[in-house]
Amino acid sequence: MKFRLCGTDEVDEGAMIQATVSGKPPFAVFKVEGEYFVTDDTCTHGKASLADEGDLEGHCITCTWHDGKFDIRTGEVLAAPCTQPIKAYPVKIEEDAVWIEIE
Ligand code: FES
Repeated sequence: MKFRLCGTDEVDEGAMIQATVSGKPPFAVFKVEGEYFVTDDTCTHGKASLADEGDLEGHCITCTWHDGKFDIRTGEVLAAPCTQPIKAYPVKIEEDAVWIEIE
């Protein structure tokens, strides 16, 4: 199923917002160098919102609760204490909006 997360103009360059879709856990939508990336919003270490509590530098999001880091392109863990990757989603841009396709 395809979900519209937000308008492309809602996310500033080098920043992120939280986006919600009914019945799903929240997502984080990032914009880096004009490209959009989507991951789950909730850190896999604790319950921090990466969109609200994260610090984005390039493609690396640092969870400021305990300094865990993820690559927003793949969800790969870049720094402890996180051990579980964060889920990253393929993104489509259509009609000036950010979309993802999920089950
Ligand atoms: Fe994110 Fe601990 S809650 S690093």
